[in-house]
Amino acid sequence: MTEKKNKDAFSSNFGMIAAAIGSAIGLGNLWRFPYLVGQNGGAAFILVYLIITLLLCTPILLSEMVIGRRGGGSPRGAYVKVTGRKGWGVAGILGMLTCFMIMSFYVVVGGWTIRYLVMSIAPGFHRGAQIDSAAVFSGFVGSNVSPIVYSLIFILLTIGIINLGVQKGIEKTSKLMMPLLFVLIVLIGIRSVTLPGAGAGLDYLFKPDFSQFNFDSLLAALGQSFFSLSLGACMMVTYGAYTPKSSNLTKNAAIITVSDTFFALLAGCAIMPAVFAFGINPSEGAGLVFVTLPQIFTQMPLGGLCAILFFVTLFLAAISSAVSLFEVMTSTIMDMGKARRKTASAITAAILLFTGSICSLSQGALRGITIGGKNIFDQFDYVSSNILMTLGGLLAVICVGWVIGKKTFTDEITAGGTIRVPRTLASVLFFIIKYVAPIVIVTTAISSIF
Ligand code: PFF
Repeated sequence: MTEKKNKDAFSSNFGMIAAAIGSAIGLGNLWRFPYLVGQNGGAAFILVYLIITLLLCTPILLSEMVIGRRGGGSPRGAYVKVTGRKGWGVAGILGMLTCFMIMSFYVVVGGWTIRYLVMSIAPGFHRGAQIDSAAVFSGFVGSNVSPIVYSLIFILLTIGIINLGVQKGIEKTSKLMMPLLFVLIVLIGIRSVTLPGAGAGLDYLFKPDFSQFNFDSLLAALGQSFFSLSLGACMMVTYGAYTPKSSNLTKNAAIITVSDTFFALLAGCAIMPAVFAFGINPSEGAGLVFVTLPQIFTQMPLGGLCAILFFVTLFLAAISSAVSLFEVMTSTIMDMGKARRKTASAITAAILLFTGSICSLSQGALRGITIGGKNIFDQFDYVSSNILMTLGGLLAVICVGWVIGKKTFTDEITAGGTIRVPRTLASVLFFIIKYVAPIVIVTTAISSIF
C-alpha cells in the first residue's frame, strides 16, 4: 500500500499524536473524571480505571488505528476495505451516528464554555462579586436563544478549523493547543493545591475507599475510559487513515492513553482541592464546572485570572475534541456523497445546528419532552456514551480479532516488518483484542441490563 500524499493526511507522527490527544482530552477529563473518582471510592476508582484503560482500552484504541491506517479513507470505506465485505461498512456508519449524537450535546456545552469565557473576562465576574452562580447557570441554559447562538459560534469555530484541512487545520491547531492545555492545567493546579484546606481534596481523590467501590463503579470506570479515549466512535479509524505509514501505532496508542490519563489526574488535582478548600459538595456532576467553580473563583485570591485560565482550558479541550467528532462526520459525507470538504462540513454544521438546538432547548422550552424519563440532551448523552460507543468498540475488536486476523494485524503494527514490536507484546495485544475485550464488553453490557 502506498503512503497517502494528499493533504488529507497528517504531515508527521507528532501531528497525529497531538490531534489524537486533542480528541481524547475534552470535557470528559475536566468535569466527568474528577467527580466520578470522588463518587466511587477515590484511589480505588483510579486504580481500576488505570487497569481498564491500559490493559483493555489501549488495545481497542490500537484496533481502531489498525483498521483506519490499513483501510484508509472514511471509516465506512476503511471497514469495507479491510474486511473485503460491504456489510462491514455499517460499522463506519454507526461511528458517524455516534459522533453525531455526541456532537449534538457537545456543541451545546461548547457554547456554554464560550459564554463562561466571555463572562469570566467581563468585570462583574471578578473577585468579591456576589453572584448566585446556580441561578446564572440555570437562567442561561434554560433560555431559548442565547445558548443556541453560542452553540452556533462554537460550530462556526469548529468548521473554520475543519475547512483548513487535516494538516493546516486539525494538525496545526492541535500542535499549538495541546502543550498549552497542559501548561494551563498545571498553573490552575498549583493555585488550587496551595489554597488553605486543599489537602482534603487530594485525600478525596487519592485515598482508596473500597467500601464505595461496587459493580456500578466498574461500569462507570469502563464507560469513562471509552469516553475519555474517544473509543467506539470511529475517531481513531478516521485519524488512523491520516497516519503516516512509518508511524509506530503501538507506541502512539500508549502515548495517547498515558497523556489522556495524566491530564485527567491533573484536572482532578486542579479542581478538587479548590472545591474542598471552600467546603463545597464535590459530587455536583455537570454543575461542578459551571456552578461550583465560578462561585469559588469569585472568592479566591487570583480568582479572576484563574477563571479566565480555566475557561480557556475548557474551551480548548472542548473544541479539539469537537474537531475530531466533526471530522468523522465530514469525512464520511465526503466519501459517501463524493462531496468536497467544504460542502461536507457545511452539511455537517447544518445538521448539528438543528440537533444541537433541540438538545439546547430540551433544557428550556422543550423541557417537558422526555424519552425514557430523560430529556433529549441527557438521552443523547446516555445512548451515545453507554450504548453506541461500546457497540462501536466491540465491532472494532471483532473486526481485527476475528476478520482481519493476527497476520495482518502484526503486519500493520510493524509497518510491514520495518518496526520492531516484540513478538510476545504483539501476541498479548492480539489475545486481548480477540478474546478479552469482546468478552468483557459483552458481559458488562449484559450485566448492566440486569
Ligand atoms: N474524549 C472526549 C472527552 O473526553 O471529552 C469526548 C469524545 C471525543 C468522544 C471524540 C468520542 C469522540 F469521537
